[in-house]
Amino acid sequence: MPSDPGTEIEIRRGDDWHLHLRDGADMQSVLPFTARQFARAIVMPNLKPPVTTVGEAAAYRDRILSALPAGLAFEPLMTLYLTNDTSAAEIKAAKESGFVHAVKLYPAGATTNSEAGVSVLTNLYPVFEAMQEADLPLLVHGEVTDAATDVFDRERLFMERDMHPLVRRFPDLRVVFEHITTRDAADFVENATERVAATITAHHLLLNRNALFAGGIRPHHYCLPVLKREEHRQRLVAAAISGNPKFFAGTDSAPHAKHTKENDCGCAGIFTAYAAVELYAEAFDNAGALDRLEGFLSEFGPRFYGLPLNAGKIKLKKVKSAVPKSFVMGANEVVPLRSGGELEWQIVA
Ligand code: NCD
Ligand code: ZN
Repeated sequence: MPSDPGTEIEIRRGDDWHLHLRDGADMQSVLPFTARQFARAIVMPNLKPPVTTVGEAAAYRDRILSALPAGLAFEPLMTLYLTNDTSAAEIKAAKESGFVHAVKLYPAGATTNSEAGVSVLTNLYPVFEAMQEADLPLLVHGEVTDAATDVFDRERLFMERDMHPLVRRFPDLRVVFEHITTRDAADFVENATERVAATITAHHLLLNRNALFAGGIRPHHYCLPVLKREEHRQRLVAAAISGNPKFFAGTDSAPHAKHTKENDCGCAGIFTAYAAVELYAEAFDNAGALDRLEGFLSEFGPRFYGLPLNAGKIKLKKVKSAVPKSFVMGANEVVPLRSGGELEWQIVA
């Protein structure tokens, strides 16, 4: 049962384990939203060009820290973008850097800025070996990319073709199956070893694929992996509220300028960073599971990554607030999830 209006909860400050911060003026606009919500975030490396070396990650990290408004404490946890040319030496350097916390695998062509991604997974086995050795987690965008595969089946097929062989071959490699969207992926993670975890977005907990076509085509509900059927959404909610530490928060907040989504060939990505904690709270409250929110947002991620829990607290209240139609992002606007609508929860302290 959802809680009564006016309900307040206090939880440990959380982290976002999958975030797109972009760069330059766009980053300057969106970074404060995340820094107000979370203490840390795993920052995706799919810039143009992608962040493929420790040197590039260091420079990107510096740009993030200098864009941070005074008075906001926030730690960007950097990642490297795996390419066909990534070397075992780069992995070792990444581990030794102390600020690179994971390596991201995008199958080539799977999503926004993934042209430089990996084409044949088995060619990278020496790199996975090095990651296993260094104990550096592999973050996986788990979708096959061949155009012949139905877009709604891409995650399931990736599991069969790539994920199963990968975790069998590297049993000690820490793997995060990112932004899972299907019952099949949730089952897979649940049944895998404790080295395998998954992030779940707020939008995949709140929306099913009908949201793409509610009253007309809705480009601001388009993301990758694409929203799935209601039965899959329900399985994701069950995983998120289960208290199983393999499932934790990763918003995949992926801002794109309004005109690039409201377009003949619109970009994939949903912007939730402005209210990520509130949206997760709503999803957990709808399921009558507010008591499980803290583990999911603030405990299981750090435990998996071997990082300390945050010291601070946040307080949330169940009180409605209006969502702006858009926010400024650099020279453009970004349209948030719930644009012009309402949030059910608010951070009050
Ligand atoms: C992401 C982006 O825009 O960078 N888009 C998305 O729909 N999630 C890329 C990604 O994580 O797939
Ligand atoms: Zn992403």
